[in-house]
Amino acid sequence: MGELLLDVQMVSKAFSMGGLLSRQRTQAVCDVSFSLPADRPEIFAIIGESGSGKSTLARMVLGQVPPTSGSVRFRGRDLRHLRSRRDWLAFMAKVQPVSQNPFEAFNPLKRVDRYLYFTATRFAGARTRKAREAEADTALRKVGLSLAEVRGRFPHELSGGQLQRTAIARALISSPALIVADEPVSMVDASLRMSIVNLFMRLRDDLNVSIIYITHDLATAYYMSDRVIIMQRGHVVESGDAREVLLAPRHPYSVLLKQSVLSPDDAGTGRLPPDGRQVGRRSSEGLSLMMPQDGREEGAA
Ligand SMILES: Nc1ncnc2c1ncn2[C@@H]1O[C@H](COP(=O)(O)OP(=O)(O)OP(=O)(O)O)[C@@H](O)[C@H]1O
Ligand SMILES: [Mg+2]
Repeated sequence: MGELLLDVQMVSKAFSMGGLLSRQRTQAVCDVSFSLPADRPEIFAIIGESGSGKSTLARMVLGQVPPTSGSVRFRGRDLRHLRSRRDWLAFMAKVQPVSQNPFEAFNPLKRVDRYLYFTATRFAGARTRKAREAEADTALRKVGLSLAEVRGRFPHELSGGQLQRTAIARALISSPALIVADEPVSMVDASLRMSIVNLFMRLRDDLNVSIIYITHDLATAYYMSDRVIIMQRGHVVESGDAREVLLAPRHPYSVLLKQSVLSPDDAGTGRLPPDGRQVGRRSSEGLSLMMPQDGREEGAA
C-alpha cells in the first residue's frame, strides 16, 4: 500500500464523568487501528451495537475529540500537529462529516440554501452571489438535486431523503477526500435509503471520495462496503473484506450480530442475545433480504 489517506494507530478514548468522589471512567474506544489508502477510494464500514464506540471513533477521525492515546494521521499529518486556523480549515475541507439526522444538522429556522452558500464561501472561495449559487447547484446536482429544488426552502419543506442529500451536497462543496458518515441512512425512510446508499457508491466510484460508513445495519454495509471493522465495547473484534467478514464472521460477537439480523425468528425484533441490546432492528425493512443467508456466495472466500 502506498501513501495513506488516513492512518488510525492504536487510538483509545476514555471519558471521565461525575464528581470527585463518584468519578466514573468509560473506555469508549480501546486501541483501534485501521487505515485507508490514498490511491484508491473505499467505503469502510464501522459496525457495532449501540455504545460500542463507533461515534467516538468517528469524532476522533474528524478531529472533534482528541484521543486519550494513539494517533490519527490524515495524509501523513498527525491531527495533533494541526495548530493554526488555516491548518484546521484545510483539514476540515478534506474530511467532512455527514450526520445521522439531517433535521438536526440544519437549523429549522434557516433556509437550507444558506448552508450551501456559507460553505461555498468558506471552503470553495466563492466571493460573489453568482459563484456561491453555481457551487451550490453543482454540488446539488452530484446528489441528484438542483438549486431550483431547494432554493429558499426550510428544512421541513424537504423530505428526509432530500434533506440528507442536501447535507451530502453541502459536504461535497469543499471537494473532500473523505466523508465520515455516522448512521447516515438510519433516519431516512426505507424506500429512500437505497438512493442514499447508491449515492455513496457513486461518490466513491465517480468522485474518488472515500467514505467511513458507520452503521448498525449489516445489509447496507454488505451491499456497499469494501472493508469493515466490527466493534464491541470499544474494541475491534473482527476486520477485513466486507463480504468475507459479513458472510462468514468468525468472532462470536460478529456471528451474533449477523444472526440477529438474519434469523427469520429474530428479523426485525432487534434482539441480540445475550444482553438483549438493540441491533439490526432497522434491517428488517427490506434490506436484509439482499444478504445471502447461507453464508456462501460465488466469488467470496
Ligand atoms: N462525551 C461523552 N462523555 C462521556 N461518555 C461518553 C461520551 N461520548 C460517548 N460516551 C460513552 O462512550 C461509549 C461509546 O459511545 P459512542 O457514542 O461512541 O457509541 P456508538 O457505538 O456510537 O453508539 P450508538 O450506536 O448508540 O450511536 C458509550 O458508553 C457512551 O456512553
Ligand atoms: Mg453513535
